[in-house]
Amino acid sequence: MSNAHSRRTRAAQLSLMLTMISVAATHAAAQVATKLPTGAIRWDASEEAARGALPSMSFANPTHRERREPTTKAGPVKPVFSTDGQGRSVVAISVEGGTSLYGTGENAGSLLRNGRTVEAWNTDAYGYREETKSLYQSHPWVLAVRADGSAFGVLADTTWRCEISLVDGITFAADGPAFPVIVMEGKTPQDVMMQLAAHIGTIELPPLWAIGYHQCRYSYYPEARVMEVAEGFRAHSIPCDVIWFDIDYMHGYRVFTFDSSHFPEPKRTNDELHDLGFRTIWMIDPGVKAESGYSVFDSGSAGEHWVNKADGSVYTGEVWPGQCVFPDYTRPETRVWWAGLYTSFMATGIDGVWNDMNEPAIFNVPSKTMPEDNQHRGGGDLSAGPHARYHNVYGMLMAMATKDGIAAANPEKRPFVLTRANYIGGHRYAATWTGDNAAEWYDLENSIPMALNLGLSGQPFCGPDIGGFIGNGDGQLFARWMGIGSLLPFSRGHTGKGNRDKEPWAFDANVERSCRMALERRYRLIPYLYSLFEESSRTGMPVARPTFFADPADPALRSEDDSFLLGDDLLVVAKTTPLGDRMPVLPRGEWRSLNLHDGATDPDLPDLYLRPGAILPVGPIEQYVDERPLDPLTLYVSLDPSGKARGTLYEDAGDGYGYRSGEFLRTTYQATRTGSAVAVEIASTFGKLARPERSIVVRVMLDDGREAVAISKDGQTISVDLATAKLPGQ
Ligand code: GLC
Repeated sequence: MSNAHSRRTRAAQLSLMLTMISVAATHAAAQVATKLPTGAIRWDASEEAARGALPSMSFANPTHRERREPTTKAGPVKPVFSTDGQGRSVVAISVEGGTSLYGTGENAGSLLRNGRTVEAWNTDAYGYREETKSLYQSHPWVLAVRADGSAFGVLADTTWRCEISLVDGITFAADGPAFPVIVMEGKTPQDVMMQLAAHIGTIELPPLWAIGYHQCRYSYYPEARVMEVAEGFRAHSIPCDVIWFDIDYMHGYRVFTFDSSHFPEPKRTNDELHDLGFRTIWMIDPGVKAESGYSVFDSGSAGEHWVNKADGSVYTGEVWPGQCVFPDYTRPETRVWWAGLYTSFMATGIDGVWNDMNEPAIFNVPSKTMPEDNQHRGGGDLSAGPHARYHNVYGMLMAMATKDGIAAANPEKRPFVLTRANYIGGHRYAATWTGDNAAEWYDLENSIPMALNLGLSGQPFCGPDIGGFIGNGDGQLFARWMGIGSLLPFSRGHTGKGNRDKEPWAFDANVERSCRMALERRYRLIPYLYSLFEESSRTGMPVARPTFFADPADPALRSEDDSFLLGDDLLVVAKTTPLGDRMPVLPRGEWRSLNLHDGATDPDLPDLYLRPGAILPVGPIEQYVDERPLDPLTLYVSLDPSGKARGTLYEDAGDGYGYRSGEFLRTTYQATRTGSAVAVEIASTFGKLARPERSIVVRVMLDDGREAVAISKDGQTISVDLATAKLPGQ
């Protein structure tokens, strides 16, 4: 190589390097950090990108994202914006060593997400496995917990297909225009969760019955089989609140219709189930059979409510009923029309609605969904745009319209909607489940981390199909699953067509006994669970929380998949392998073993532990949540090393909106030990509801498993003598 040539090459290299530096510098200089009134930092690729950003669909109030104030203190997290070879907008955030990453919504696999790549693109993911990149929901959000237990969260506020890579720090790469990134700093991960809620909102307090146990299958029919299952629960004394109606109740899968031979009188069916203490939930899918003469198709066509193809003609795709059209839920008038369809439907006495297949799922196409260039017309704040932009919020907008519809149909009742597809923020409209899992140990294991990561992504009301949707499984798997599922926020048994019966008594007497104990346990815990749901509805704290929340700075807890916390106080330690031989890492301190069955045990059920310093409110066993009043109220007391404990119970009518005008009672009990006497009294009480006249049982737990018990009236100071302690059941 001649000197001249090598000089030229060097010069060219130098100039290329300078160009690269100046491009990088342009990016670095152009990106802007502004502060939102919540204290979070909003980052944009440039001022121009900030002004042109599409409206937020994750924020509870989209205008809040636009209240930007200049700031010079953007904090330690510095996103770097660029575009990649595929034209995607990329935001990269480096993280310090020792940082644990969580969230990213609904994913298969472990709680800890470091090293994983997923894609936010709602997909009908039947039988998903570890490598499945996209499940039914999209949560472009990462919670990062640093080695010292401090934390931050990053929300990539885009609805477009978005790859989230946690292989080297955090990288979001999304189709569509540049998007803002919201960074929330917190002293603890709990802080960050509450900040997330300050932006995307919280769940509404569900009706009490919705946190009972639910029984489903694809499908219980005809009506006689539904009644047989419902009566079976009562005959076997196994608690259950809700029976579900999957698609076979419809006339040829036409939504908002009933099959007149299998379900001749839905109102009577609902009435009979109500008489047995059950609520009912019926399924509605988005696909509307394209058939003239079918009223929903006709009224939807008259209102031009369907999603169009790129050429402007109505799009059709195949789902259960055959060729279907799909409501364009981006249009406000379409949401109003859809909501209105629920008036006569709910008038049959239906209590809640299940929205499924709303990714939307389309059969027999490789993409499993509608074409990305289909056109949504929008309205209100939403401009017209391609399906690629609205795909991830299609299910959320459907759930929103459904919730509006059932709330309008029954204004005195709290609406309950379950949706399969959703988007971050969609917990404001609906609870969720983790889709079509399989009756295999892998899926049982997934149940805990999936629910936890959904909770860490803003969706506290979630759980798996208990028993597995695909396939049969055996009795032991089922018992274990019921043990775990009965302690997750949304607790529903479900299975697919053609599978064996999976009611709690359908295996054998041992499995039935395990299921009864598991569900009796849930029902005894309902006062505590309801208090957690109420807390979540105010603060955004998940109901089921990762074990590391007990001590965010303890690195040993960061990847714990087999245990979790309910609230702050109750630790659930599950067996998720056939031998049950994996030893979970427990938080430090004297967590006390809790037995809610007077000493009776079952090796298939998770072990429970109560935090030192906690008082746990527990009710009597019930067959459904409003079978009888909370009497006696039992308080399990686990003193801390200084001899103190506290716990809170929230109560209200269980339905309706009286609680919003103060018709509730929030009681904090406290316990203090002096010598061998423990005094339990009310530390504070809020709300207008009168304290019910009821008995109270105080059980002070000692380290050796003995309990000292005292019985009195609620509202009085109760003294317990530790010298009287004995083993439960003796
Ligand atoms: C989907 C749902 C499943 C339901 C079935 C029939 O696969 O995920 O839960 O049972 O459709 O409606």
